[in-house]
Amino acid sequence: MCGIIGIVGAAPVTDRLIDSLKRLEYRGYDSAGVAAVVDGHVERRRAKGKIRALEAVLDQEPLVGTVGIGHTRWATHGAPAERNAHPHRAGRVTLVHNGIIENYAELREELKAKGHTFESDTDTEVIAHLLDHTLDSGLEPLAALKATLDRLTGAYALGILIDGEDELVMGARRGSPLVVGHGQGEMFIGSDALAVGPFTNRITYLDEGDYVAIDHRGARIFDAAGAPVTRPERIVSAAAALVEKGNYRHFMEKEIHDQPDACQHTLSAYVDAVNAATVSPGVDFTKVDRLQIVACGTASYAGMIARYLFERLADLPCEVEIASEFRYRQPALAPGALALAVSQSGETADTLAALRWCKTRGIQTAALVNNHESTMAREADVLFPTHAGPEIGVASTKAFTSQVAALTAIAVSAARQRGRIDAHEEARLASILLETPRLIAQAIATEETVRQIAGDIAKARDVLYLGRGAMFPLALEGALKLKEISYIHAEGYAAGELKHGPIALVDEATPIIVIAPTDELFDKTASNMSEVIARGGRIVLITDEAGAAHAPEGARVIVAPACDPVIAPLVFAAPIQLLAYYVAVQKGADVDQPRNLAKSVTVE
Ligand code: G6P
Repeated sequence: MCGIIGIVGAAPVTDRLIDSLKRLEYRGYDSAGVAAVVDGHVERRRAKGKIRALEAVLDQEPLVGTVGIGHTRWATHGAPAERNAHPHRAGRVTLVHNGIIENYAELREELKAKGHTFESDTDTEVIAHLLDHTLDSGLEPLAALKATLDRLTGAYALGILIDGEDELVMGARRGSPLVVGHGQGEMFIGSDALAVGPFTNRITYLDEGDYVAIDHRGARIFDAAGAPVTRPERIVSAAAALVEKGNYRHFMEKEIHDQPDACQHTLSAYVDAVNAATVSPGVDFTKVDRLQIVACGTASYAGMIARYLFERLADLPCEVEIASEFRYRQPALAPGALALAVSQSGETADTLAALRWCKTRGIQTAALVNNHESTMAREADVLFPTHAGPEIGVASTKAFTSQVAALTAIAVSAARQRGRIDAHEEARLASILLETPRLIAQAIATEETVRQIAGDIAKARDVLYLGRGAMFPLALEGALKLKEISYIHAEGYAAGELKHGPIALVDEATPIIVIAPTDELFDKTASNMSEVIARGGRIVLITDEAGAAHAPEGARVIVAPACDPVIAPLVFAAPIQLLAYYVAVQKGADVDQPRNLAKSVTVE
């Protein structure tokens, strides 16, 4: 899941390529590179590491041209190293790629046998050689590109320069996203609207299998069969200004603090504040007899939280499954099911494949996504938007709570439609939902206490997170957040499972984070805390004021605001996120760009 950009400009493009790559760095940051047409031939600069390493190279060896391509990489084939950095080159061809070519090994052998020499370990380089080889047969660039694409198996978004074609950038997509941006006498291609956001808000989304040529006159788009096609141009708000850190040290810190706003914006699409009612989300839940949620990572935990609500409030059977398992399991779904993909990016390869699997079987599909122009948003029958704004930190925070907020409101709406609650109860729940932004802000105010406790947790090797009911998925999310940004091993468990294994890990060196608002399950979790204390364990209890009064002796306590159980996952998420954040800061970790991860995973 790399990021790509291509510009046919009226002025030098290197600075703009770099600007765009910085916006795309959320997709990967193992290495970066740019190429541009200089005096009739293509030159490139590449560097291992983040964009700033590439900038240092460019300072030493500037690249001046008005037509160019750029890439920021998340390694799949071949270690992060300069020789594996894009753009890759073969003969007259220089290209950047996002995706995975599955048949690269056999193509590579075939091309080697024909005398091609490879200089990287990547799957991408084979595309450059294959295209160069096809050009040798005398085909025009676009015809050669089509012939090359026809031989590729796997996923790709491509940006291509050809020596001697000084004003041409070609692109193609299958399985990985690519947009065309229309400027004033300038044209762009990029992985998403954000990439071309500083240059234009006039965007064309390419369809699956499309390929394109851009030059100063505009874009020529062709479908997978090679027929010229017209794809609509839209005006999108790339929300350029939102992609700034402001006064915060990290995007993650900013995005944690953005959550009251993000939830407010999201809820305003689902809750009618004037009439204290939910807004119908565009699905007739009286005709749905089962909800199948598919998602990956943090989004799957949002789905797990939603399951408690859909079953409890709306009496709607609900399954939640990791998309990478669901897509290959041949699940049995009856026609009355609604398949719901939950995804911040709307591009995660496994979630998209699961959604498509359901669609081809005639199952109604919905997508709860933050990127409203994404592939999932466009392909699902129904779009449930979240309005978190662009999320840049790799560890998801405001996108997660916005997902939970939207799902909670949709569950209330489903409950009302299905006659499981009356108008009075709907109004009560709608009012509770509307309190969420304020309560999240109060929960964020635990920051100083959390920061102090984080100093202690940062020394641990292992950390356990426990919760019951909807706090169990939050325990999973807490553990995921901690491991992804602070590299401390952490596990989330249902508190009732403690005695079936994890209790063996309890000793004075292992902090146990217990998430327990006062609700009907609090006493049971309190018993689990006693079991831990009896074995010398160290507890950090995240609870409300009433729960704090029952904290076991020796426990450190984070007091979040008391709230209705329906919104407790939203309110209790903030201290969990802050804890992971401050532990990572304490450890000096790269909070926004943790090692080996990427924000948007558009490969399997
Ligand atoms: C990656 C990110 C996670 C995210 C997951 C699913 O692993 O690091 O933060 O939860 O992908 O992404 P999606 O865009 O589908 O929500």
